[in-house]
Amino acid sequence: MNATKILSLAAAAGMCALLPSGVASAQTQAQTPPQTPPPWAYPFLDPSVQPPPDDGIKRTIPGSSASFTLTDISDVFNVHDWFPDDHPPMPQVVAHGRPPEVRACGVCHLPNGQGRPENAGLAGLPVSYIVQQVADIKSGRRRSSVPEAGPQLRMLASATHATDEEIQAAARYFSQQTYRPWIRVVETEMVPKTEVIVGTVWAPSPGTSMEPIGRRIVEIPEDLGRAELHDPRIGFVAYVPVGSIKRGETLATTGDSGRTVPCNTCHGPRMNGLAEVPPIAGRSTSYIIRQLYDIQSGTRTGAGAELMKPVVAKLTMDDMIALAAFVASRTP
Ligand code: HEC
Ligand code: HEC
Repeated sequence: MNATKILSLAAAAGMCALLPSGVASAQTQAQTPPQTPPPWAYPFLDPSVQPPPDDGIKRTIPGSSASFTLTDISDVFNVHDWFPDDHPPMPQVVAHGRPPEVRACGVCHLPNGQGRPENAGLAGLPVSYIVQQVADIKSGRRRSSVPEAGPQLRMLASATHATDEEIQAAARYFSQQTYRPWIRVVETEMVPKTEVIVGTVWAPSPGTSMEPIGRRIVEIPEDLGRAELHDPRIGFVAYVPVGSIKRGETLATTGDSGRTVPCNTCHGPRMNGLAEVPPIAGRSTSYIIRQLYDIQSGTRTGAGAELMKPVVAKLTMDDMIALAAFVASRTP
């Protein structure tokens, strides 16, 4: 932290002390960076929750001639590949991983690299960027603000135990894939009630009850049944508060008078990546929120993340929601 920043923080703290306490805390809440990771962006499933027992029935999805049981679908060392023609042949580490610790990358990130909100889309990321991120995760420079969540723990295990050759092969494989539109961003006042289900993904609770969205993003499968079978052709819908996309556009394109730095400066004119700087357009809103929050709170560091620090320094959670809504709504 530099001297100017320390001074401005001290000044802000001093100002708050002069205000009646109620006013101070309301203003602090509205204007300062968030203090805790938002649970709606960091899905967490109690580790004691077990998947339903396998009934032996082979599941199918539209457009695929394959069929898999629930045991096949939860096998982390064999990707159940619904559409082998949709992607090039998978390297061993993507299709099978290597027991006991290196789970198959394709099980979580999907064989086509589209990823799911609880992990990350890898399709179309630069090879060197993928390699660097896995190295950062392994070394601890990149940690989640909720490191005890199941997907984060298993990603850490894969990163820690995979060989350099395996990571190179996986990086080349995912990098050559084209990331497709995957997240439909919808502004709304009301959303379905949701809960975290097996797979550590937010899903509508049984029944049809709705609730106000409040100040959060609710990102759920377009088709829950198919998402549970890891259908790699059906994406997600992100419900965002009304007005978020426009507000996000102002922040992302102008910086809003120094509140942040225009994203296209580094991420490219359409935010589809520039050299080693990763593409962000059309990626999962939850994923984007987690990265902005992790970089701001200092759990995601590393050389590249340093460049993002001035971008996130002043962002409130409402700013992050707006940015995620706008960025995710752009065509990848
Ligand atoms: C158990 C599920 C799981 C497996 C298996 C897995 N990952 Fe991940 N991966 C994750 C999660 C969770 C994240 C972190 C998302 C976050 O930061 O919020 C992640 C993040 C990443 C990122 C960062 C993406 C970005 O845009 O910065 C890369 C790269 C990555 N994984 C590569 C791999 C590779 C290569 C393998 C196989 C060796 C693999 N992963 C296996 C769950 C998994
Ligand atoms: C000064 C250059 C710069 C600017 C401006 C910038 N970024 Fe970044 N951003 C980066 C770099 C470099 C990375 C890769 C970080 C790493 O290597 O860990 C990154 C990473 C990210 C990531 C994580 C991507 C991933 O796959 O994990 C998100 C999300 C992101 N930026 C959003 C934004 C948004 C939103 C804006 C505009 C408000 C923005 N960035 C402006 C340089 C920049």
